Amino acid sequence: MNILNRLFYKKRKFYDDDFDWESYTADSYQRRLTGDVEKDHDAIAKSAELSFDPATGHVTKQGRSLHPNQHLIYEVIGQLQPASVHEVGCGAGDHLGNATALFPEIQFSGSDRGATQLDLARNRHPDLTDRLKLQDLTMPFSRHWPKSDLIYSQAVLMHIHTAVSHFVALCNMVNMANEYVLLMENYQCHNFVQDIIGLRDGGHLAWDETHIYRFDGSTGARAILLSRTPLDYEELSSDAQIRAGLDPSRRRLDRAAEDSARAIFGY
Ligand SMILES: C[S@@+](CC[C@H](N)C(=O)[O-])C[C@H]1O[C@@H](n2cnc3c(N)ncnc32)[C@H](O)[C@@H]1O
Repeated sequence: MNILNRLFYKKRKFYDDDFDWESYTADSYQRRLTGDVEKDHDAIAKSAELSFDPATGHVTKQGRSLHPNQHLIYEVIGQLQPASVHEVGCGAGDHLGNATALFPEIQFSGSDRGATQLDLARNRHPDLTDRLKLQDLTMPFSRHWPKSDLIYSQAVLMHIHTAVSHFVALCNMVNMANEYVLLMENYQCHNFVQDIIGLRDGGHLAWDETHIYRFDGSTGARAILLSRTPLDYEELSSDAQIRAGLDPSRRRLDRAAEDSARAIFGY
């Protein structure tokens, strides 16, 4: 390595997620929440506005709509009826707040690696204060972490690109889940299906069996659902299935390929 390369290598940024999570709330998230999400949708719904119909498996929201991603999360919860649900990377806590209002009999909790994100969540949802904890999902698994029937993320793993961190996060989510993992993410940011199959077949996942499904919400969103037992949804064996009909982003797909290529699965 010549001297220039050596200097450049030493300065190379190791931390390569999309954002600096220490300053993310002030830099970007708070502005995005009010400027984008709340401009077109209700981020926080009143409990009287939400209902779940077990016959159709659909959620209905009176008044302004919810973002389709949020809407889907509540439909998954309604259809699977887990006793406990935990959101990783919960940010402002709005998904948890709405879900608690819609399904008061289910035990909800959330975590995030950003202390300022959790402050924001506690401000917006004082009732959730005791159920929100600091957790870095890319740390080695901790037996202090909560176990829940369903573990989900919304727009979290898609932003994690440091070393093999998104693989660690996926394994940790499965390890925290008694039954199901739901990934509501941008499916071009990682080769989620390929990476999960690699982890499963390489023996990295805690479950004996991992079934991979596509879940379609009633308002247009789609998600990846992992289950330790077989379910009656479309089985996923390739990323093409979850990306079908999406406009390809070359930049994202190239980065996803680079991230996947860092994996050494199994032994
Ligand atoms: C784009 S925001 C989404 C927040 C929230 N899920 C939502 O839908 O509004 C990404 C969130 O993931 C959190 N996050 C990023 N890396 C994380 C990690 N390693 N462990 C836990 N949370 C993480 C960030 O702090 C941030 O709150």
